[in-house]
Parts: sequence; C-alpha cells; structure tokens
Amino acid sequence: MGESYETLESFLQEQRLFPPSAAFKKDAVATAEIYEKGKDPEAFWESMASELHWFKPWDRVLEWNLPFAKWFINGKINASYNCVDRHIQGPFRDKTAIIWEGEPGEERTLTYSDLYQEVNRFANALKKLGVKKGDRVTIYMPMIPEIVVAMLSCARIGASHSVVFGGFSAEALRGRINDAEAKVLITADGGYRRGKVYPMKQATDEILKDTPTIESVIVVRRVGETLQMAMKEGRDYWYHDVVDAAEDYCEPEQMDAEDMLFLLHSSGTTGKPKGIVHTTGGYLTGVYATFKYIFDYKPEDIFWCTADIGWITGHSYIAYGPLLNGATQVMYEGAPDYPDRGRWWSIIEKHKVSILYTAPTAIRSFMRWGIQWLEKYNLSSLCLLGTVGEPINPEAWIWYYKYVGSERCPIVDTWWQTETGQIIITPLPGITTCKPGSATHPFPGTEAEVVDEQGSPVKPGGSGYLVLTKPWPAMLRTLYKDEKRYIETYWGRFPGKYLTGDGGKLDEDGYFWILGRVDDIIKVAGHRISTIEVESALVDHKAVAESAVIGIPHEIKGEAIAAFVILKEGYEGVPEMQKELAAHVRKEIGPVATPETTIFVGELPKTRSGKIMRRLLRDIATGRALGDISTLSEPGVIKELKQKYESEEKE
Ligand code: WTA
Repeated sequence: MGESYETLESFLQEQRLFPPSAAFKKDAVATAEIYEKGKDPEAFWESMASELHWFKPWDRVLEWNLPFAKWFINGKINASYNCVDRHIQGPFRDKTAIIWEGEPGEERTLTYSDLYQEVNRFANALKKLGVKKGDRVTIYMPMIPEIVVAMLSCARIGASHSVVFGGFSAEALRGRINDAEAKVLITADGGYRRGKVYPMKQATDEILKDTPTIESVIVVRRVGETLQMAMKEGRDYWYHDVVDAAEDYCEPEQMDAEDMLFLLHSSGTTGKPKGIVHTTGGYLTGVYATFKYIFDYKPEDIFWCTADIGWITGHSYIAYGPLLNGATQVMYEGAPDYPDRGRWWSIIEKHKVSILYTAPTAIRSFMRWGIQWLEKYNLSSLCLLGTVGEPINPEAWIWYYKYVGSERCPIVDTWWQTETGQIIITPLPGITTCKPGSATHPFPGTEAEVVDEQGSPVKPGGSGYLVLTKPWPAMLRTLYKDEKRYIETYWGRFPGKYLTGDGGKLDEDGYFWILGRVDDIIKVAGHRISTIEVESALVDHKAVAESAVIGIPHEIKGEAIAAFVILKEGYEGVPEMQKELAAHVRKEIGPVATPETTIFVGELPKTRSGKIMRRLLRDIATGRALGDISTLSEPGVIKELKQKYESEEKE
C-alpha cells in the first residue's frame, strides 16, 4: 500500500455510499423493473430461459418437491449448442469468443466458428473412444482454450464433465476420478506457472493404475518437446491426433433439462470432497441471466474472469455464462506477477478489457505491490469491476474502485457458491447504491434471509445464518451418489431453508453483509478448503497421531491454514518435520492446502465428549481472550498451547 495509504484513508472517511453514476445508468442493461419482474420468480426465470435455444420447450417451469427441485420440466436443450451453434447462425459467426494469452507470452484467438469446429471434432473424437450420453469424463488441464473445448464437447454428446483444478495433486485427482467413475481423462503434457513448466500427464501416470474406470487418456500438447513422458499404447492419445482424425460435424444430443451437465467436487465439512451435481436447463438459464445483468453485458464488451476453470467461478463465468451470451473474453494461463507485477494490467491494456472479474485476495496483493504497477498502463477500457470468492474488506473495495476503476467503474461484489451455480447476492450496476463490503441484495428471482438459531429471520441490524428461501434454477440438485448427505448438509438445519454455511448480517437498510463461513470450511486466497480434509491428510502421515486445523486471518489470502499437530512417540517436532508435513499435504491435496504455520503440541483442547474445541484454537491463534472453557476436559492443555503458539510466533 505504501505511499498511497494516507490518501486512501481520507478517501475512506469521505464516502461510504456509491450510487451508480448517471452516465452508467443511462445505458445499463438492467433497469429497475427487473426487481419487479423477479417478484414472480417462475415467470422471471421462464422469460430468461426463453432467450436460450430449446429443442423442445418445457411443460412446466418448476417442480419443487422440497428439497428437490426440477426446472423446465421435459424441456430439451444442449449446452454446447447454446454456447456455439446459436451464435454462428447469426451475426457472431466471426466474432472472437476467446482471446487467450499464454504465460510465456503467446496469443491465440478463437472465433465462435473456430470454437464450433473444434468442439464438433473433439466431440466426435470422444464418441469414437466410446464416450456415451450419461458417462463421466474427468478434465485436468491448465488454463488453455482446449479446456473449454473439452467441456463443451462433453456437453455436446451428453457426457458429464468433472473438472479437477490443475493445482490439485495427482492424489486428489485420483479420488475425484474414482468418485465420478470417469471413463476418460483429458489432460495436457504440462503447463506454465511463473516461468516454470509443471508436468501434468507425467504426474497422472502415477495414479492411473488406481483408477479402474479410466479407459483412455487424451493429452493436449501444451509444452512440447521439453517434457518427457510415456504414452501408453492403446490408452493414451494425443488430442491433436484424435481431433485431426475426427469428422467435422457432431449432432448435439437433445438433453433433458434435468440431465446432469457436470459434477464438480468441492470441500465440505467432512474429509471427503462432495460431488456437486448441476443439471442442464436451469444451470444454463441461471448463468446466462446473471452474466447478462450483473456484468451489464453489451456485445462490444471484452470480459475477463481471472478464476481458474477448475473452480465454479470458471465454470459459470468463463465456460458457460460468457459463451451463452456470445461474449468475447480473455483467458490467461499464468500468474499475475510473471514476468512482473504489471502483467494483469498489461493484459487489460492490450486487449482493451472492459469487465474485470476477480477475487479480493488478488486485489489485496496488488494493494501491497503498489499503484506504480497500474500507472504504467492505460486502463481506460474498463467499465465494470467484479469480485467473488470471499468477503471483500472495505479498504480493498475502495482501492479497487479508486485505482483500478478510476472512480468510474461500478463494482459488483457477487456472493455465491459452488452449490448455487450462479451468483445469488449482488448489486446490479446502474441500479444499486453500493456500500463497500456489502454484497447488497439477492438477484431478482432469488431470495435470501439471515436467520437466528431457531431459524427465524433476524431484524434489520441483526446477524445470524445466511439461508436461501426459494429454489433457483442453477441450484445443485443433489450430491453425487449421496442424496442423504445432500438433505442433511443443506436442508437439515432449518426446515425449508437452504443452509449456505455462511454467517450474514442484515443492516438497517436491508443490505446483506457476508461474514464468512460458520463451519469447517475456510477460504485460502479464495480457494475453498476443508480443515478436516487437511487434518485427514496430516494424520495420514506416519509421524502424526492427531491434528486440528483452523483458518487464521491473513493479510493477503484472507485466511491461512494453521495446523496443530500431535506427533507419535519417537518423532520430534523439529523444523524438518514441519517441512515434511507441508510436503505431504501438498502431495495429498495440493499446494493450496499447505499449512502456513504448524505447531507441535502434546495435547489438543477437547470437550468432555472428545470433540476438539476449534474455537479455542482460533482464539489462541488470533490472540483473542479465551472464551468459555468450562466444557474443556483438561483446562491445563490451553496454557501449554498458548505458550507453544506464542513462542512459535516469535521465531
Ligand atoms: C465465500 C465461490 C463473501 C462464501 C463462488 C461462500 C463470498 C464460499 C463471496 C463459496 C462474496 C463467495 N462475499 N463471501 N462475494 N463469494 N464467498 O464454493 O463463504 O468456492 O460460501 O464458490 O465463498 O465458495 P465456492
């Protein structure tokens, strides 16, 4: 923040309300009537759905058999048809769909008709390898255009994709492949990150012996010659070979609105990631409409969502939302600080990005790096800024507004989840007066509440649990192969209300403020990690007897991981052990889950019934006064922990 901080401070005190400017309002896509329309959700979503292409229209809009929703009953639709075919029949044939920038600096542009050709061919290639409607295909790739092609190709032939974030380890990939019982794995030889090549195919080879359902592996050549790896005859195929050999046209499958479009694993409150199931018609309708209105999308816009496709943000607002709208978007492969900390701003200048959608953690890094990196570039193409993934602190909001948007661009702070599929709580630019740090109001056609322990709505000014009270089209339908867990996790706490797992506050003006997770999920740099998943990885190590993992506040990442570990007899809590455990967690889950601090302790604070008291660990780690410790079985444990933690901190 450096020298700019003082001015920022005074700016913060000057204004707290940000109404849309007259200039923005004049041409805004969403006008005030949209909230009126949203008061009849079924009619509203029906009108949104009718802007898409359907082979056969629906008989009824919604069947709500709590907690099971079906949207657009008996409607037949295809996602890839809507993302590409629909556009090439009209004026968008030669419009750019994707401007891709590789980290080393290459650039590729794909028009909608390029995308059409590639998707048709690759869909045929998948068919030839035996992929059929209803099968699952796992995708584990870097951020290259072929990842979008792969997803759309699966959708074209009615196979469900299951994308696994490229930053997850091979071990994590294995679990997800096996849960999905995927038939084919699509990957790449490797990718680039901060100037270095990281191997992907080679990494997957270790686990492919333990993924019995995989019949074929398709490998995109991203890096080339420098990466040595083996291609197994009869199992492994090069992407370019199978695409070259494929026919030009593939008839899109007519999918039922409720057929599964994709499966995406996300961290839950137990060790095993949950397979979140999204279906076709409702999901497409939800992401189409939210993209259009929240990002104030106009045909000349250049949109850039900086998320990785491996997370829901990339699914909904790279792969589907923009393409359904016929938008032109930028896709970037690498890190924000390579070759220097101006990379993102250079991309915005070069491609004249008009809408930027990113995460608070990135904004906080840029704040720290200083505005000199932005000042080198012309950012005047920007019209609108968005944020997602974790609560944005008002300072970061103001900084984003002032320095990135030059006080000209509205900011949309969008709250949603892997489960919701689409943005739920958000301002609408051109309508909403923003308060930095508040995601403001539910999107038209959706409804949220903040409720107390009993499930009753809190009065304005109160805080409690954030719940959603009406079904919405892109909502998850169930958890893959685990309906019981779906019912319990989301619908078990308050009857008839979807539990988000977030704490919320409703202010006097009826604005929603998201207070972060109230369960065992943490957001590390916007990435969703379950503390229990990290604990399971730790106890999997031969030296670890027990562990407790918590999220602690972190200036840039929002939250970081702190692990309290009890070692088995004969092992020592030395720095080498910390390193070894960190490496172990990286191998089991991936670098995103690496503990920031590991503290070796003799005991963990537990209730008399044996439950670890994480709240106390959090209090210790954040230096807060210790709350009620009367239920603790061994109050002495706390003293030891506190001393340990504090001495660890000093080092
Ligand atoms: C958090 C990401 C505050 C929240 C799309 C939620 C946010 C979790 C916001 C879902 C926001 C997301 N303000 N918190 N604008 N957006 N979150 O599944 O805790 O990776 O429950 O989906 O991110 O994370 P997920």
